[in-house]
Amino acid sequence: MKKQIAVLPGDGIGPEITKEAIKVLDAVAEKFGHEFNYAYADMGAIAIDKTGTPLPEATLQVSLESDAVLFGAIGDPKYDNDPNAKVRPEQGLLAIRKALGLYCNVRPVTTFDALLHQSPLKEERVKGTDFVMYRELTGGIYFGEKTLSEDKNTASDLCQYTRAEIERIAHKAFTAAQKRRNILTLIDKANVLESSRLWRRVVTEIHQKNYPDVDLRFLFVDNAAMQMILAPYQFDVLLTSNLFGDIISDEGSVIGGSIGLLPSASIGDKHALFEPIHGSFPQGAGKGIANPIAMILSAAMMLTHFDMDKEAAAVSAAVDKALAQGVCTPEIFPENNYSTSDVGDFIAKNIA
Ligand code: IPM
Ligand code: MG
Repeated sequence: MKKQIAVLPGDGIGPEITKEAIKVLDAVAEKFGHEFNYAYADMGAIAIDKTGTPLPEATLQVSLESDAVLFGAIGDPKYDNDPNAKVRPEQGLLAIRKALGLYCNVRPVTTFDALLHQSPLKEERVKGTDFVMYRELTGGIYFGEKTLSEDKNTASDLCQYTRAEIERIAHKAFTAAQKRRNILTLIDKANVLESSRLWRRVVTEIHQKNYPDVDLRFLFVDNAAMQMILAPYQFDVLLTSNLFGDIISDEGSVIGGSIGLLPSASIGDKHALFEPIHGSFPQGAGKGIANPIAMILSAAMMLTHFDMDKEAAAVSAAVDKALAQGVCTPEIFPENNYSTSDVGDFIAKNIA
């Protein structure tokens, strides 16, 4: 198969980990007889530095014309602590999500047996944890109307959802649950928020009409945050709005022992983008210590999106092998001394 992939390495460690993912994709192409063509473009702080805007038109064009987008990381500390900054790298990511219609963000949280001891939680709580988060990505408080009063002392962000926005992601989450352990948990704040009550109503209706076999559960987001560390193994598919999903997915991402391991997919009806959950880790940039596995697994999710299931399985098997043999960066195996590119080489070699 021939695929056109837009590659946006982004900021911080983004370029280093992207390089390793491409190495692995090239190994997949060779082994399975595919042709992957890459179109590189800038997004984030690097794009602001070069063009003044975090999502240049050319980057958007390349992304719109590709079969998928592979994205590294975004963010630079020089913007983080300046509330008056007019442009921010993150605006690029939000803009591309909106422009490509990527409303469904999928974040799987799995644990690796070799790493259970790394978890901040007790091993017996972590063991067996395997869930996937469906986070709404182009609506809610992230994209609602924002106001700042003239005297700059009053500000607001509107959290608005429509039935249609909830329905389209709910269908995806229910379908995913049916292919897994058949449990869907809606996370909201329906005891307080009107928009959450709309989520409950719409999700309940869809459940009764289309997916009555799925075990549908509800959890308030504060309780969900607690349950996630008390008994993360209880979850199968989680469905939630944009902001709650942002927060809960960071919490979920550390359960397995390193945020450097978790991939994500952002899917729309026409386009898809794949990126690791972690950020740009600017302190680690250029040192060869960044863990490329989340990025490599994001590329594997892209392969699954291309219906290349065998290929995706080959990548995850190679990742499992790396972790089982202690081939990973120092935050996981400090004694073993493997660099970012050593890890990429090992995984690529174990595909070919
Ligand atoms: C994420 C990130 C982004 C978000 C930021 C970088 C805008 O935290 O993908 O979770 O809040 O969605
Ligand atoms: Mg986040």
